[in-house]
Amino acid sequence: MSNDLTLSVIKADVGSHVGHTSVHPRLIACAQSHLAESDLLDDFHVTAVGDDMELIMTHKHGVDNEEVHELAWDAFFAATEIAKDLKLYGAGQDLLADAFSGNVKGLGPGIAEMQIVERPSEPVIIFMADKTEPGAWNLPLFKIFADPFNTAGLVLDPSMHDGFIFEVYDLIEGKKIDFSVPEEMYDLLAFIGAPSRFVIRSIYRKEGDGSRGDIAASASTQRLNITAGEYVGKDDPVCIVRCQSGLPAVGEVLEPFANPHLVSGWMRGSHNGPIMPTSLESAVPTRFDGPPRVCSLGFQLRNGELLGPKDMFDDVAFDEARKKANKIANYMREMGPFEPHRLPLDEMEYTTLPQVMERLQDRFKPIDD
Ligand code: F6R
Ligand code: MG
Ligand code: MG
Repeated sequence: MSNDLTLSVIKADVGSHVGHTSVHPRLIACAQSHLAESDLLDDFHVTAVGDDMELIMTHKHGVDNEEVHELAWDAFFAATEIAKDLKLYGAGQDLLADAFSGNVKGLGPGIAEMQIVERPSEPVIIFMADKTEPGAWNLPLFKIFADPFNTAGLVLDPSMHDGFIFEVYDLIEGKKIDFSVPEEMYDLLAFIGAPSRFVIRSIYRKEGDGSRGDIAASASTQRLNITAGEYVGKDDPVCIVRCQSGLPAVGEVLEPFANPHLVSGWMRGSHNGPIMPTSLESAVPTRFDGPPRVCSLGFQLRNGELLGPKDMFDDVAFDEARKKANKIANYMREMGPFEPHRLPLDEMEYTTLPQVMERLQDRFKPIDD
């Protein structure tokens, strides 16, 4: 059994074909060979969801490790060179800096990491979304770890009765807070119900004395537009969830996605729409650049080795969720440029709308009646 294993999922959109819909296989092959050349990693798996390339890595170097982050950055950088050569769309889109400096956080890519002691059997699910923002995980993570109508284990497994600790980031003020659930469930919901600003960063088992125990989930919280100060596409977040043996079961972890909730993103990062759970193969967001997708890969860890992947939404049991998402998409699309299909104005600040408004600002006159 390996101690102190770190699971790092780092993603970026470094160019897409066609438009913003998928990652060219040559980019994936490039990142794969880049990671394979390094001796930093125990194991890795490279995949894509929509136009985002996802590096799933295990290693022994802890979270926020400079060398591991640099390796990911270099893999994205090398793939960008190919994207440029192939004239793919948005080549290098998410690499906001010219060079790596210490940590990929704040440089464009999204990151979810956790350091764990691998259990005798360690099933993990990696969620990856396209055409949405980090707050998209708030509702499903709440259901998984706090809603007994979703997670039967919260009622039936005594080892879950103490509950969990949710770490929440305020992305606007740059502050963070822990909530102890179930006691502080209502306080937690008051904040995470506003997912454009308050996002769940991580979730821990609760020890008997109320302190943080083992980490159970970790999500990316990077918001590209806030980082860049201008519109550069949506963040398309990732999330790692450990399952079973005193944590929610695999089926409890996947269950929230049976109901496609509304998230912000979709076309031009400016629309609310349903998040559709699909297989990796079906994660090609073509309709109005969407609707937003969520994919999930399951792995069993074996001394750092990633046994898998298993494409978890490649299951007919999620067909109804996909149908429902399509129905909701039809309904919302009929509203065209009107809220609440289009995002509210404060969210549109982070899109290209301010440029439209600026052109017209001199024509606005005071209302004098
Ligand atoms: C959403 C996204 C796309 C683009 C849209 C316009 O995250 O990436 O919906 O915003 O295709 O792209 P540009 O402005 O590059 O033509
Ligand atoms: Mg793109
Ligand atoms: Mg994307």
